[in-house]
Amino acid sequence: MSILRIRHYPDPVLKQTAVRITEFNAELRHLASDMLETMYAAPGVGLAAPQVGVSRRLIVLDCSPKDGDRQPLVAVNPEILTREGECCEEEGCLSVPEYYANVVRSEKVRVRFQELDGTVREVETAGLWAICFQHEIDHLDGILFVDRLSPLKRSLFRKRYQKIQEQRQEQL
Ligand code: NI
Repeated sequence: MSILRIRHYPDPVLKQTAVRITEFNAELRHLASDMLETMYAAPGVGLAAPQVGVSRRLIVLDCSPKDGDRQPLVAVNPEILTREGECCEEEGCLSVPEYYANVVRSEKVRVRFQELDGTVREVETAGLWAICFQHEIDHLDGILFVDRLSPLKRSLFRKRYQKIQEQRQEQL
């Protein structure tokens, strides 16, 4: 297992539509376990393959309480089947360091995905798990949470993020 390098906005790989996975082999299992390790080390509650430079439809999540047991979930080719309700919570992203904003999402989502052996599974999710699924599946379609902000908030984000990046450069 190894920790992978996380790509930061505006890396072009984050804008690409990721490719559907058709081979359920050792290489896929290896990538999923590296992604989980990278996510836990960050630390984060979700990670999509494009964030580590791999434009394929694979996400990993763990939204279990911090003081409880780990509940790693690997979802291959995930898709949202149905949505219900609306919520607005503060989100961040490992690819957009040090920036957080409220994002409007569906409150409950039914998701279909494949497990690492290709088995099809469907889950009904709500709360943080539902938000996380939506955020990570967006990554597979080249969408970042900042793309879901209003035009005004997006332009504020760009200015703010530029400053954050300049400060990071100075620290290096
Ligand atoms: Ni993200």
